[in-house]
Amino acid sequence: MKIQIINGPNLNLLGKREPETYGNQTFEEYFATLKNRFSEIELFYYQSNVEGELINKLHDVGFSFDAIILNAGAYTHTSVALHDAIAAIKTPVIEVHISNVYAREEFRHKSLITSKCIGLITGFGIEGYAMAIQHMQRK
Ligand code: DQA
Repeated sequence: MKIQIINGPNLNLLGKREPETYGNQTFEEYFATLKNRFSEIELFYYQSNVEGELINKLHDVGFSFDAIILNAGAYTHTSVALHDAIAAIKTPVIEVHISNVYAREEFRHKSLITSKCIGLITGFGIEGYAMAIQHMQRK
């Protein structure tokens, strides 16, 4: 099984960025633990701060991979183009947020992508990515 994790803007700063909200671990450290825990799954990681590059990556993997785990960061709340990209591809997408977006500012309560994703995991910290992988394993 091939799963692509895609992180959007500012998530390259995990570990440094607002640790009280996003934790102390870099995504690279966490990704190494995921690869050990789920060694039977082919896991890939991509991050970009650029909206169009996230769309290009969705197009690249979206017809051949088994699942995409997408944390689109702030583009979640603004991007019609990401909504359309998820609608356009065949691979199922799971939306993940580290923080509980519904317990935060009102502008984070709206996601333009949830309606095109198979599900949403929000508020379980960085472990939300593992929960998404576990869902795919059980299928
Ligand atoms: C986030 C939540 C978004 O509202 C925010 O813009 C992020 C991170 C999360 O993982 O909790 O960049 O997607």
